[in-house]
Amino acid sequence: MTKFQAPKGVSEYVPPRSNAFAWVRSTLENTISAAGYQLLELPIFEDTELFTRIGASTDVVSKEMYTFEDRGGRSITLRPEGTVGALRAVSEHGLDRGSLPAKVYYCGPFFRAERPQKGRYRQFYSIGIEAIGTHDAALDAEVIAIADAGFKKLGLTKYRLEMTSLGDAESRAAHRVDLVKFISGLDLDEETKERAKLNPLRLFDDKREEVRTLMTKAPILLDYLSSESKANFAEVQRHLTAMGIAFTINSRMVRGLDYYTGTTFEFVHDLLGAQSGIGGGGRYDGLMGEIGGQDITGIGFGLGLDRALLAVEAEGVVIPETFVSDLFIIPMGEAAKSASLKYAADLRASGFKVELAFGDRALKTAMKTADKSGARFSLVIGDEEIASGVVVVKEMSSGTANSVRLDSLASALMN
Ligand code: HAM
Repeated sequence: MTKFQAPKGVSEYVPPRSNAFAWVRSTLENTISAAGYQLLELPIFEDTELFTRIGASTDVVSKEMYTFEDRGGRSITLRPEGTVGALRAVSEHGLDRGSLPAKVYYCGPFFRAERPQKGRYRQFYSIGIEAIGTHDAALDAEVIAIADAGFKKLGLTKYRLEMTSLGDAESRAAHRVDLVKFISGLDLDEETKERAKLNPLRLFDDKREEVRTLMTKAPILLDYLSSESKANFAEVQRHLTAMGIAFTINSRMVRGLDYYTGTTFEFVHDLLGAQSGIGGGGRYDGLMGEIGGQDITGIGFGLGLDRALLAVEAEGVVIPETFVSDLFIIPMGEAAKSASLKYAADLRASGFKVELAFGDRALKTAMKTADKSGARFSLVIGDEEIASGVVVVKEMSSGTANSVRLDSLASALMN
């Protein structure tokens, strides 16, 4: 018989590591919701066109999408990223007609058919926020600060924030003229020239050393910022500095998606090797309009949960125990099983964490399981205890044993 394995390149989490994953996710989620962002629970697949509209020049959209025809003959794509789906939902449900910015977040799996390696998966997990409808440098700074606060809450210290500004339409148009002129003078293959036609900035992101070398003399967008864009970017930097958030300017940063304008940023972790981007994002004037919504701006980020966990592990962060039960009950015999199920359910309803031993194992084996579970207390219950209404509760750390009435177990556990 075939022994099945997970599909190639997916990230999956099983105990005990899944506890650490859940902690990373909830820590970041708590940081985000503390700033007033509200949950969007979004579909994992969308109309293919929603994505093709936004990034023809990118690998993510042109080469890495999981696209298929559904049973109704519609072209469907497993979401490669979250921003456009979030904007689609915000527009569809009119959240952009209320008070602005509309502040939303989402979390879950994303799909990119990349070459798998450590930290790069075909199904990966990300948490993202979007603040839609307001142009304000303070908002840019706050969005960046939320990501930074999340990483700090995870106990990370060995990461850097890199930033640039892609300016407004005027700045980009001026830069594009000179960049296209510069690129036309380079000796490039046809495919690269085609890519450059769609988005000349992509060449800054080329993996090949020879193209990178050619691009070292290329005109830089930061030198073309309009006075308004320049002032806006300076203000973002002032706010970050005032908050004590360190950053460096990376004028050659190119994000893997095409929709960015204005403030653009990436968090890079120093111990993760090739896949060091633990999060990134930026502003996107025009994107909402591009997918049929109002012509309003927005800014957001996506943080990679898989990579954040790898970073936590690489830095040796001690992860708090997510489940330590208060009591481990070992029933001996049928009547005891039935009673234990009831006691466990009642104690859990009162807020205690309780585990049971199952499977009619010998007392010694059951005690070992109780020990391994890390429970604070354990007790053995059989016919005798049911008859007397008294059990011996053992504190696992000290070995101290106390007789406790079965009907006052809850107060014994509180001590
Ligand atoms: P992104 O940088 O493409 O941005 O993805 C966000 C994060 O997801 C990355 O920083 C990285 O940590 C993680 N990630 C991306 N691809 C993979 C992969 N194949 N395996 C593991 N982790 C991965 C976006 O998706 C934008 N939607 C972010 C955004 C929101 N911009 C504005 N709003």
